[in-house]
Amino acid sequence: MSAGAAPRVDDPLLEWRREFPTTETTLHFISHSLGAMPRGVEGALAHYAEMWRNRGIRAWEEEWFALPTAVGDMLAGLLNAPAGSVSMCENVTMAQAVALSTQDFRAPRNRLVCTAEDFPSELYLYEGLARRGAEIVRVPARGGRRIEPEDVIAAIDERTAVVATSHTLFRTAQVLDVAPIFRRAHEVGAITLLDVYQSTGSVPVDVRALGADFVTGGSVKWLCGGPGAGYLVANPATTSALRPAITGWMAHENPFAFDSSAQKLDAGARRFWTGTPAIPAFLAAREGYRIIAAIGVAAIRAKSLRQTARLLELADAHGFTVTSDRDAHARGGTVGLDVPHAERVCADLLAGDVLLDFRPGVGLRLAPHFYTRDEELDEVMRRIVASVRRHTANGA
Ligand SMILES: Cc1ncc(COP(=O)(O)O)c(C=O)c1O
Repeated sequence: MSAGAAPRVDDPLLEWRREFPTTETTLHFISHSLGAMPRGVEGALAHYAEMWRNRGIRAWEEEWFALPTAVGDMLAGLLNAPAGSVSMCENVTMAQAVALSTQDFRAPRNRLVCTAEDFPSELYLYEGLARRGAEIVRVPARGGRRIEPEDVIAAIDERTAVVATSHTLFRTAQVLDVAPIFRRAHEVGAITLLDVYQSTGSVPVDVRALGADFVTGGSVKWLCGGPGAGYLVANPATTSALRPAITGWMAHENPFAFDSSAQKLDAGARRFWTGTPAIPAFLAAREGYRIIAAIGVAAIRAKSLRQTARLLELADAHGFTVTSDRDAHARGGTVGLDVPHAERVCADLLAGDVLLDFRPGVGLRLAPHFYTRDEELDEVMRRIVASVRRHTANGA
């Protein structure tokens, strides 16, 4: 069966493609794992080296100390979070650790409700909290893959201290309807922690509308910001009296007082900082954030829905099993295809400069982004089909 040619559409987002040199040398379908590098990153890192070399210690005053807040405000704009509510940190794992360190997990309110499809690093962290009195309630996926909001809601009660989950689930790219889950959490007096990593820059997120107390994310994927720039958003209305146990000198109201008496926490987002910020990572990440903000996540989402729909159409035409959601409202930016010999097909394609990945249980994962040309969708599917045929013929 053939899917037929896709209608030609005007695609103004392709203007941005020239900012991403990698897209000229690869078929780039891996933005759910590592977004393409913006051209501006090289200049940003050269600028960092120049500041360090030429300005030395004065770089802190002149740029570096204010940088995490300024960079965090760019993310606040993308997430509809209040300015000054974003703390930059190293990665999601640390951001979650800081947020969860505000909780005592003392019985009878000692439960943390999460899902089996949350990112493993988070599940490991929660496991660690079980040694400190937390009781972890992990809501299973139906059919091994799908999380139903009603199952999470049913797991929440007065024993729940924290409800933690993701906006877009990492493995299947299911967009979870978190608003009713968080409403229930607040009804019973629990706090909410939302991982938006697989959404930010791809699926619109409004953290105020969702009612999240803490939100975590990183920059490596759809934001095209590279490693080392994680973030924690703390809703000032619900978290400004909380005291993190994982903390440091940069969370003090006056860090340069080097005060050794009991810590006086900053009243703003710096309350959730720890030690010295990762300046080069934040300078690099800013290049990606600027582009995403200039395009707008709504436009990125509209294109993503169109291109993932085309991938589904092509997959159906070849009889491949689709492991991600088909419904537009629950479909994130990634399409999962459980093709025959998927792991070998993935290795084949990577060797031929097609960037994608493979995960057990979901098969190949393909993520078009705003820089993807429509022709590339057909081309990637041609390569997959050819590789599947080769491995099938070889009796692999
Ligand atoms: C949903 C989600 N959360 C978290 C992470 C990563 O966490 P960290 O920033 O701690 O490496 C990933 C992917 O790497 C992810 O997909």
